[in-house]
Amino acid sequence: MRIIRSIKEMFKVSKEKRVRGKTIGFVPTMGALHEGHLSLIRRARQQNDIVVVSIFINPNQFGPKEDFKKYPRNLKQDSLLCKREGVDIIFYPDASLMYPVNYRTYVFVEKLSDCLCGKVRPGHFKGVATVVTKLFNIVSPDIAYFGQKDAQQAIIIKRMTRDLNIPVKIKVMPCLREKDGLALSSRNVYLNQKERKDATVLYEALKKAKELIRNGNSDAKKIISQIKRLINSEGITKIDYISIVDLDSLEPIQKINNNCLIALAVWIGSTRLIDNITIK
Ligand code: PAJ
Repeated sequence: MRIIRSIKEMFKVSKEKRVRGKTIGFVPTMGALHEGHLSLIRRARQQNDIVVVSIFINPNQFGPKEDFKKYPRNLKQDSLLCKREGVDIIFYPDASLMYPVNYRTYVFVEKLSDCLCGKVRPGHFKGVATVVTKLFNIVSPDIAYFGQKDAQQAIIIKRMTRDLNIPVKIKVMPCLREKDGLALSSRNVYLNQKERKDATVLYEALKKAKELIRNGNSDAKKIISQIKRLINSEGITKIDYISIVDLDSLEPIQKINNNCLIALAVWIGSTRLIDNITIK
């Protein structure tokens, strides 16, 4: 396994592979790898000749008051995990290479970037769309793998690759969870013991909502207030949003009679967690 830090070198290597007819599977990450990331890597390993994992904590997708500085960093451990999963290349560029002085160009996916997490994290998805476009250009993968854990991100990336005719296939993999239902996230390490326990209510509330819908409840407002009630009952009161939206447009749904996404973002102590469930 190689760790490539230079953009030029990454370009060169992926070009060589493509010339030799090898397919490239790509998993973009910000490191602090867990089983959720590894599930994407494993799928990439099954489906491609070469697997590239990028580890880049993208400063442009963090707000000024967000956790960029304290975001967990552990290249040694991440490398071990990647090696064990048969990754061929870790692409590990420095921020000064990705965003040199006088950097001016951004990718923005209209509408889809303004709602849900985008509403409370202005600029976040512009940062994500921009870095993913740059990574796609540098790595030129055949298939790129994303997690349903970040449902809005996956929808935006799919739309962006279609709109900009980027020749990469996007695969979205299921959200991996702890035994008690908490979605795996690099940010879970911020939680103390009590917060970690309280956090299980998120998936419980989402599952309850799914059950209510299965039993014929279709009023989104009522479902949302049930989810809120359950979450509040754990003492969690800082809620960024709980929304039921259309799976393509991300527009809010009033009456649930089609495929939809129930998504939420809440604060547990000083940690912001997101989760979602799809209703089909
Ligand atoms: P990061 O949070 O490191 O996540 C990298 C990929 O792993 C994303 O596609 C994310 O959805 C997926 N992932 C995270 N937790 C998961 C889980 N529990 N189950 C399945 N997949 C999971 O998302 C980012 O990084 C960044 O925004 C990035 C796309 C790399 C751009 O900077």
